[in-house]
Amino acid sequence: MSSSIDKEKSVSTTITVEHGVDPTKVATKTIYTGAKIPVIGLGTFGSDKYSDEDVAKAVLDAAAHGYRHFDCASVYGNEKRIGQSLKTILDGGVKREDLFITSKLWNDKHAEEDVIPQCKQSLKDLQLDYLDLYLIHWPFLNHHAKGVSADARDLQAKPYSHDAYMKTWRQMEKLVELGLVRHIGTSNVTKPKLELILRDAKIKPAVNQMELHPHFQQPDLFEFVTKQGIIPVAFSPLGSPSRPERDRTPTDSVPMDDPVIVEIAHRLNIDSASVCIIWAIQRGAVPIPFSVKRVQYLNILKAVVGERLTDDDMQKISAIERNNRFIKGHVFLWPGAKDWNALWDRDDQISE
Ligand SMILES: NC(=O)c1ccc[n+]([C@@H]2O[C@H](COP(=O)([O-])OP(=O)(O)OC[C@H]3O[C@@H](n4cnc5c(N)ncnc54)[C@H](OP(=O)(O)O)[C@@H]3O)[C@@H](O)[C@H]2O)c1
Repeated sequence: MSSSIDKEKSVSTTITVEHGVDPTKVATKTIYTGAKIPVIGLGTFGSDKYSDEDVAKAVLDAAAHGYRHFDCASVYGNEKRIGQSLKTILDGGVKREDLFITSKLWNDKHAEEDVIPQCKQSLKDLQLDYLDLYLIHWPFLNHHAKGVSADARDLQAKPYSHDAYMKTWRQMEKLVELGLVRHIGTSNVTKPKLELILRDAKIKPAVNQMELHPHFQQPDLFEFVTKQGIIPVAFSPLGSPSRPERDRTPTDSVPMDDPVIVEIAHRLNIDSASVCIIWAIQRGAVPIPFSVKRVQYLNILKAVVGERLTDDDMQKISAIERNNRFIKGHVFLWPGAKDWNALWDRDDQISE
């Protein structure tokens, strides 16, 4: 693609893809409604490390290099600044229908009366008329201050209540009926929770956002989600090396340093991050890696339209599964909960 521009300034700015990837070359997956979602999106959680400005600049620059799918959330605290980038992107000539924008409802806004106003706030901040996808970020009610440590607890935090979740979900369904949101979805749910949600939902989740990387492949949940015609969206697809301190434990591994990943990367002359992303896409997921560094997010996008992994590569990566969950969610625990495993329903029993 030709024409050029890389500055965020006026309404006449044209967003172009000069040294990037033609966005029409990036594959899509089809949601059960028939709508398309690009197989790669850019995450926007700055992990308490990158400023709103850093992230918003990356969104604008990534769009100028071919990204069309952005994963946002109100709790990341940067939707207002990202909205300025989205406006520049749209004013620059990218059509709204060519963008895929996600946002998420935070844990302290599950009350029925909060859902629609919260979504409207995200729309206002992002300067959009509608969202392509709106998720319930976590299936638990709680509140915690920004940047707290892993041992911080909210005494009002609650375990999963299916009745309460479905009341929130009904409001999510209303957002679709109102035309404010094209699709709704779940995030951080387990199989037993999703089974109940599917039983009672009028509008089926379009996606389930879940932690997925070579050292945490969640094969059972992945298969269940896919069989239900729901798209698995992979968060922390690189193993989240810049995640906040509260999400680190001494037994955590580093998927991008795994010798199997490194060897494939050398052979294909791409970086380890790209191997993780191509693996995720070929497996059937939609990964949403985060980066504010052009060299990183551009390498990944170029790899997405580049060489495929072989069946042998795919098998080798499937064999390095370690059941190593990084985003454990300690801070969402409710009074009386034993440890973070309670959030994840061991043995398919919903924890109370
Ligand atoms: N639904 C949920 O509860 C949930 C939870 C977590 C995340 N998410 C979403 O998923 C997105 C991604 O997850 P994440 O940020 O946790 O983890 P991630 O994408 O696995 O890791 C991001 C980090 O990987 C490094 N990186 C990126 N590209 C690279 C490259 N080409 N080569 C080497 N290193 C590279 C960067 O580290 P440096 O910063 O050190 O360069 C970056 O900060 C988030 O931004 C958010 O949108 C959702």
